[in-house]
Amino acid sequence: MLNGGDAERGKAIFFEKVEVQCSRCHAVKGQGGTVGPKLDGIGKLRQREYLLEAIVFPNRAVAAGYENVTLTLKNGAVHFGLVKGEDDMELRLESPEDGPLKIAKADIVTRQRGLSAMPEGLAAALSKRELRDVVEYLAGLK
Ligand code: HEC
Repeated sequence: MLNGGDAERGKAIFFEKVEVQCSRCHAVKGQGGTVGPKLDGIGKLRQREYLLEAIVFPNRAVAAGYENVTLTLKNGAVHFGLVKGEDDMELRLESPEDGPLKIAKADIVTRQRGLSAMPEGLAAALSKRELRDVVEYLAGLK
């Protein structure tokens, strides 16, 4: 499923196939939605294996800036949101309830990853051939 697809057909699936609606959430060349990351240049950044896996198992690897977490802190507070950045000391969270937060790593007691906003099961709406075509299209976005 990794090689030999038809990029033109893949593009049509990406933008037009109602059952999967990739472009509802993803933009390419400024066209499409903003729920998920822009996919311009994804073929340069990522191998075909990764692209296929991102479609079939969206929860295996989550794109940077799109990881949903629930954090419990030492003081008992619970925060939910998107991880916008982190280093050894600090985590930046974009929380729908509390806005942007900076949380010291030392204060975090538990960190639970939530589900990807990319739905599981999209691949079930695609035939193997269509999946191959979509991978070919994405791999060609350089
Ligand atoms: C309901 C919104 C939604 C739909 C529909 C959707 N995606 Fe996604 N997608 C996301 C979100 C949010 C992420 C980031 C989180 C993640 O990596 O799981 C993502 C991640 C990805 C990634 C990984 C990007 C990276 O930089 O690591 C690829 C590739 C991808 N989607 C391709 C597709 C394709 C192809 C389709 C159509 C078959 C599709 N998506 C449909 C929301 C969506």
